[in-house]
Amino acid sequence: MTLLDEVRRIEQEALERIGNAGSLDVLKELQIQFLGRQGALTAVLKSLGALPVDERKAVGAQANTARKTIEEKLQEATDRLSQEKPVSAFDPTLPGTGQPIGTIHILNQVMREICDIFHGMGFEIARGPHVETDYYNFEALNFAPDHPARDEHDTFFVDGGRLLRTHTTPVQARELEKRKPPMKILMPGRTFRHEDISTRAHVSFHQIDGFMVAEGVSIADLKGVLNAFAHSFFGEDLKLRFRPSYFPFTECSAEVDVACYLCRGKGCQLCKQTGWLEILGSGMIHPNVLRFAGHDPEKYTGFAFGIGVERPAMLKYRINDIRLFFNSNLRFLKQFN
Ligand code: DAH
Repeated sequence: MTLLDEVRRIEQEALERIGNAGSLDVLKELQIQFLGRQGALTAVLKSLGALPVDERKAVGAQANTARKTIEEKLQEATDRLSQEKPVSAFDPTLPGTGQPIGTIHILNQVMREICDIFHGMGFEIARGPHVETDYYNFEALNFAPDHPARDEHDTFFVDGGRLLRTHTTPVQARELEKRKPPMKILMPGRTFRHEDISTRAHVSFHQIDGFMVAEGVSIADLKGVLNAFAHSFFGEDLKLRFRPSYFPFTECSAEVDVACYLCRGKGCQLCKQTGWLEILGSGMIHPNVLRFAGHDPEKYTGFAFGIGVERPAMLKYRINDIRLFFNSNLRFLKQFN
């Protein structure tokens, strides 16, 4: 390649790259690369001395034109790019892009709804720690150390003899200890069990416990409060059914079903043809539980109940997999906006 060709090649490359340049910084780079003291054209000019006179003239003239052209194109591109700037700058007349607004998680919505219903009946809200002692999770609730009912609570134990609470009932033990009757408390929160994760079970879920202790509280109060709750949450005039059951911290104990709100008790897929949906556990607070907390069970009585949150939420919103609550899938969560 002759030096003349080399000059043309440099010019061509320079123009092409200037044409493609997307920013002023790139243009500056190109200026240095092609026209700077160490630049490609300068190198050609420096080598002119070694050429015969007429060739020197021709190449020199060509190099000077190339330099001019490159300078002009650089200037044009610089003008163009600096003019483009205001377009991307802030324009107050354009509509805003807006901040995406989050939604309250469906489980929190359901918990708030349940809390509101009980708040309306005079219940106060209390909370307790997720990492709990054996005493409050079990012993204060009348689970002796070797009590077989502990087997039903597949427990995560952590260091220092503590555990992840398996239910929200330990908050009842804590509040009973702190307060004097009369008291009506509702205790929402997260609970943990060592379960195999499936469509129906998870290692972490939510419960809402509640209790009332005063003089003369009876099972009639329990039924009245739970009826009011179920009617408000699931729908008016749905029947409740109390089935005898067992919990160490209540005596007597009952599991409570609500008539299936879909088929109204006739039997359907949702209630597995039974006509009933199980919604909570309940009972009259065991005298030992009151005694452990320093209250005289001869003077005070109380009722208690524990509601699982996921199950009623799944029933009410027809959600068929408990894992959907916890895997942060926005397409799922945004439905409950
Ligand atoms: N803690 C119980 C559980 O997790 C549920 C429960 C039943 C709570 C009866 C109560 C109650 O307060 O009275 O299985």
